[in-house]
Amino acid sequence: MATTKRYDVKDLKLAAEGGSRIEWADRQMPVLAAIRERFEREQPLAGHRISACLHVTTETANLMRTLKEGGADVVLCASNPLSTQDDVAAALVEEFDISVFAIKGEDNDTYYQHIEAAVDHKPQLTMDDGADVIGVLHAHRREQLGDIIGATEETTTGVIRLKALERDGALGFPVIAVNDAKTKHFFDNRYGTGQSTIDGIIRATNILLAGRRFVVAGYGWCGRGVAMRARGMGSHVIVTEVDPLRALEAAMDGYEVLPMERAAQVGDIFVTATGDKSVITRDHIEQMKDGAILANTGHFNVEIEIGALRDLAVETREARSMVDEFTMADGRRIYLIGEGRLVNLAAAEGHPALVMDMSFANQALSAEWVIANSATLERQVYNVPQEIDDEIARLKLATMGIDIDVLTDEQARYLESWDEGT
Ligand SMILES: NC(=O)c1ccc[n+]([C@@H]2O[C@H](COP(=O)([O-])OP(=O)(O)OC[C@H]3O[C@@H](n4cnc5c(N)ncnc54)[C@H](O)[C@@H]3O)[C@@H](O)[C@H]2O)c1
Repeated sequence: MATTKRYDVKDLKLAAEGGSRIEWADRQMPVLAAIRERFEREQPLAGHRISACLHVTTETANLMRTLKEGGADVVLCASNPLSTQDDVAAALVEEFDISVFAIKGEDNDTYYQHIEAAVDHKPQLTMDDGADVIGVLHAHRREQLGDIIGATEETTTGVIRLKALERDGALGFPVIAVNDAKTKHFFDNRYGTGQSTIDGIIRATNILLAGRRFVVAGYGWCGRGVAMRARGMGSHVIVTEVDPLRALEAAMDGYEVLPMERAAQVGDIFVTATGDKSVITRDHIEQMKDGAILANTGHFNVEIEIGALRDLAVETREARSMVDEFTMADGRRIYLIGEGRLVNLAAAEGHPALVMDMSFANQALSAEWVIANSATLERQVYNVPQEIDDEIARLKLATMGIDIDVLTDEQARYLESWDEGT
């Protein structure tokens, strides 16, 4: 049944506060602002319905504005029940006339009803962060698959799910892996997740990081960002990995590398950043010290076995806002931040705008590219075209006031030849 409601947000009275915060983020997003100005003139998205399922933050709001200025009819829902900023949701509805279905802390049923509401918008283009809209379309809204000319996917976990769908020959339309653009994951996953994960842990707990044993599970793009920033705060960082190459990188970057079984016994703070499940298990929890703090910054709340934590606890209570305390039979207390969901979005504000500028520039330009090339695209996962990646890097440098050298013709010839200069 098609929804008749235009929005479902917590409180429209929060709109003014959300509006100022959206404007504040916009000042840090000059690349997206330049794209928005061009979109307003050229209207490349005119006449297209877009359903976006992204974290409802100030940065996302500026992406939604950009799509709307480009001529699109946009609906937004949340890609995580805890990441919505209710003032931003209100401002998008009140000040920008964009439909939003998202309330911070919504239960699972409401979360999925909101995704269904976004699908009711009958999109021709979708934007996901974790492939939830694409999942719903492929599971039980298959009659709409034919209407969709393309989609974009923001994060590592989503891209992995979509590549699995493609391998099974089941992908219903072309998808652009925005995550895999260099101007996205080199910066957003590493510097964005690095800073905002630490920010979330500190806001939730107000603990001192200096001198603590800080365990990072996964030394991918996110994990290395978190490890780098935890070290910068004076922690002794321990990395756990399953990939020998990445474990080696972590070791040569100067971190202690241990299996989780051993790290569990010594760690004070644990952050999972793998995209995998059951990275911290019941066995690990049983070995942890009194006061250990657990958080997840990978996409879903399955990296830490939260069920085991609940089973093992003889008492559970909220120790602080966003921090649950689990007391074990032997008296040890283990703390979980943000219900094991993305800690940087549950307990802080997500990535800083300056880095989301590049991620969302990729989203906006990918949407434009899908529309311009829809006649020739196949049902497969595409990388963001190299020209888009290069252009975003150039624009970002320019907005940071950074000049770089340019190859001379002679140097270009030298670098391309196999015999010159030997
Ligand atoms: N918090 C955020 O805002 C944010 C931002 C970007 C990405 N993400 C999510 O973070 C996760 C990681 O993203 P990424 O770009 O770093 O991916 P990545 O593929 O670069 O890194 C993941 C790493 O985890 C390792 N790993 C897998 N299973 C493991 C296990 N059981 N124990 C230890 N290590 C294990 C892999 O070997 C790999 O090196 C994904 O779920 C992604 O969607 C979150």
